[in-house]
Amino acid sequence: MNVFNFGSINVDMVYRVPHLVQPGETLASRSLVTVLGGKGANQSVALARAGIDVQHIGRIGVADEWAAAQMAAAGVGMDHVEAIDGASGHAIIQVDDAGENSIILHGGANQSFDAPVLEAQLGTAAEGDWLLMQNECNGLDVAFDVAVRHGLSIAFNPAPMAGNVMALPLERCAVLIVNETEAAELAGAEDPEAALAILAARYPQTRVVLTLGAAGAMLQVGTRQIRQPATAVQVVDTTGAGDTFVGYFMAGLIQAMDDASALGRACRAAALSVTVAGAAPSIPTAVAVDNFQEPTVPPCTR
Ligand code: RIB
Repeated sequence: MNVFNFGSINVDMVYRVPHLVQPGETLASRSLVTVLGGKGANQSVALARAGIDVQHIGRIGVADEWAAAQMAAAGVGMDHVEAIDGASGHAIIQVDDAGENSIILHGGANQSFDAPVLEAQLGTAAEGDWLLMQNECNGLDVAFDVAVRHGLSIAFNPAPMAGNVMALPLERCAVLIVNETEAAELAGAEDPEAALAILAARYPQTRVVLTLGAAGAMLQVGTRQIRQPATAVQVVDTTGAGDTFVGYFMAGLIQAMDDASALGRACRAAALSVTVAGAAPSIPTAVAVDNFQEPTVPPCTR
């Protein structure tokens, strides 16, 4: 069984600021660092660090091959990553003193896919393989279509949420991972637990996973629900925490963990990631996650 991740690769320019810039304000940053990011790349790195043999499907500008090299160094399979002329995807990220962030995206190479490219890159996938996707690349409709035709198991993290998501065949997802904002928009309900219940009822065959930031995560399949509180840590930078969660949760499922164990490990990995600055650089190894001593409250199942 192969694992593919069709996703963005970004150059993250991270500015530390005393507070997120306000409308009309000009604010000096305290520092600037440039690191590997992109929800797709981050999730591939998390899968690889969790011990999964993952093939990334993506594109990057030729000038930024250092970012591809970092993915490869993390253990991500790069046979389906193309270096193209033109700008890479990039993100301008402010991180404030509380570790919260605000992100401007430029799609660049992540928005350059066409149907023949995706057909070719996903052409090697076979029934039973996994395809993970986020919402930073164009061509998701094509990728869903190819995945359904090839009998792939689809995992989707509709981040960042946008209007195209509602038109995708989400009922085909084996796993749907959303945060509170995404859940509210998809379900049409503000309350996170109500939104989770609506999504689980709408997609009864799907593991719907709801991340709740500092409050942990929940999972529902049909009427079976699991809740995992988060571990309290010293927050440095929350960027990439959701991606760390997605990668580790998917790794747990692929490694045949039960849902509660996969959820617990994903929450521990995400907690560790927020203690380190940057997106991809903050994603912990499986050894670090397994050695994480902070006690976690066991999940409650009902
Ligand atoms: O989820 C964090 C990521 O969002 C960053 O790495 C940035 O590139 C944006 O895609």
